[in-house]
Amino acid sequence: MTGTTYSGDFDAAWLPPAAFRAVGSRRTLIRAGDGLWTDTVHRELNGACERFGGRVVRDGGEDAELVLEAADAPDDESFTLERRDGVTTVTASGGRGLLYGLFHVVRLGEDAFAGERAREEHRPAYATRMLDHWDNVAVHPVMGQVERGYAGGSLFWADGRARGDLDRVRAYGRLLAACGINALAVNNVNVHATEARLLTDRIGDVAAIADVLRPYGIRTHLSVTFAAPTVLGGLPTADPLDEAVRDWWAEATRRVYEEIGDFGGYVVKADSEGQPGPFAYGRSHADGANMLAAALEPYGGTVHWRAFVYDHHQDWRDRTTDRARAAYDHFTPLDGAFAPNAVLQVKHGPMDFQVREPVSPLIGAMPDTRLAVELQITQEYTGQQRHVCWLGPMWSEVLRFRPDGEVSTGRLADGLVAVSNAGDDPFWTGHPLAQANLYTFGRLAWDPAADPRAVLDEWIALTHPGAPERLAEGLHAVLDGSWATYEKYTAPLGVGFMVQPGHHYGPSVDGYEYSPWGTYHFADRDGVGVDRSTATGTGYTGQYATPWAEVYEFPDTCPEELLLFFHHVPYGHVLAGGKTVIQHIYDTHFEGVEEAEEARRVWAGLADLVEPARHARVAERFEEQLRSAREWRDQINSYFLRKSGVPDERGRTIH
Ligand code: GCU
Repeated sequence: MTGTTYSGDFDAAWLPPAAFRAVGSRRTLIRAGDGLWTDTVHRELNGACERFGGRVVRDGGEDAELVLEAADAPDDESFTLERRDGVTTVTASGGRGLLYGLFHVVRLGEDAFAGERAREEHRPAYATRMLDHWDNVAVHPVMGQVERGYAGGSLFWADGRARGDLDRVRAYGRLLAACGINALAVNNVNVHATEARLLTDRIGDVAAIADVLRPYGIRTHLSVTFAAPTVLGGLPTADPLDEAVRDWWAEATRRVYEEIGDFGGYVVKADSEGQPGPFAYGRSHADGANMLAAALEPYGGTVHWRAFVYDHHQDWRDRTTDRARAAYDHFTPLDGAFAPNAVLQVKHGPMDFQVREPVSPLIGAMPDTRLAVELQITQEYTGQQRHVCWLGPMWSEVLRFRPDGEVSTGRLADGLVAVSNAGDDPFWTGHPLAQANLYTFGRLAWDPAADPRAVLDEWIALTHPGAPERLAEGLHAVLDGSWATYEKYTAPLGVGFMVQPGHHYGPSVDGYEYSPWGTYHFADRDGVGVDRSTATGTGYTGQYATPWAEVYEFPDTCPEELLLFFHHVPYGHVLAGGKTVIQHIYDTHFEGVEEAEEARRVWAGLADLVEPARHARVAERFEEQLRSAREWRDQINSYFLRKSGVPDERGRTIH
């Protein structure tokens, strides 16, 4: 039986004590000056050695099997690893690199101490690897405490205040360091009244969190409201070009740095879904972002300015407006206008974290602007942590995408950000298997070229040290492919949404069809999908560079899984495999449910190998997943049968 829950309080996730067996049973020499991160390395190793009988020395380690050495460049995150003559050596320029080097050795386990190993260099691809927590301090009447949170309450806030006991936050920081995350925003991008004050009179609460995360190499960031000078400062305006407003931000920021010397910076959602922004003053988003960048610049801080700007009061009758176009149309004219410490944070797709979207055309279209790509670990549209849906393959596809079509391994942007899926649930993520998503995000942010399936196996091995092959294979079978399964029983061929409005869980095919949100599928008796072509549609395909503009323009070259995102086609349109669109819809919906049933069966067969509480939690979620998947299947199939009148070739039951 593997997996550990600490005293019923919270799960050890991918750092159970047994994951440290290999390093903890060795003699280790640490050759590094004192410093925050070296101290963390020391503490980790001492803890492991106490448990497994090894020893840590700071000099005279002739017989050491592991040598960790760091020079004096504390901020450098890279390290090298080699093994010669029975000694494994991690060399870093400073403490941060040493910390990542240690966790790398932990991941390797006994393999780190076997044979010879030529010198390898490890360096993160993205300098910023950040989690955004959409946590509210006070419980919001509609969104609850964590907006789009499916793992209980907030890790940081409870009852309208900062949590006094930060043990869990400490454990969280440790988990995040072990998968490479180095930045974290502690509150929701929709900044409500109480949360606005984190910037000023409640900054001490943020400082307390920053203190706990710092030893794990994590810098703390804060979401702020653009209206802060008016709502907190009593000024008559928040105009970014007004001198008094600029002074207000400069002073507020100075005070933040007084409390948090290594504060990361601000995250801003402006002119988006009702949040205030520079448009109210006739200013551009570059004016807004640059004002905050100027306030942060003297201290080395960064503003993450979100590009999620679109018309959420659209008239559904108006076929000329296309929400997918919005970010590109708003921001590309501003390329080159943003300050060097302003980062435009762009959702990976042009809509909103659907199960399938093309990569946003904004990415790659602003060569003179720093960009961060935003993913969503919290499964708002992918089963809300009640369905198993491992997103590694989706993210890997996004990160491997090249705007110019070249398949290279370079970075897509400067930073990678994701909305966290963790809360105060004992398993951190509600669904215990959703931990794999958090882990995978961190590892892909370090190395976007990594094979996500190898990362999955790494997560399995760390979470269940010494797992018998049957368990490892079973977990892999349940998780790998779960994204494809989810896609099969939900909205077909990239069309998106079809969810219940508001909470976004469960099917409602027309739930958003006549709404102001710009999220339509246009199904009628003849066909379905959104014509986004340049020739006859909204012109969205024209936002891509060659070759994608041409590839997406025509139904015959458009990747099948995105067909209905880009094109409105008749139900009889024949896909590459020879099936019609309508038959594809029926088949995938039956298959999706069958695959989910099979995953549940595999999980049930692992009962003797998994700790009972964990097994029961997942089993219970599978019941809900199956109920929901059948609902999706039946609603989607019935809807399209009724619209199209085309029967299922195989005569299965459709209601
Ligand atoms: C989605 C989500 C909102 C969130 C928004 C955002 O629309 O449903 O809850 O605020 O994204 O990313 O800002």
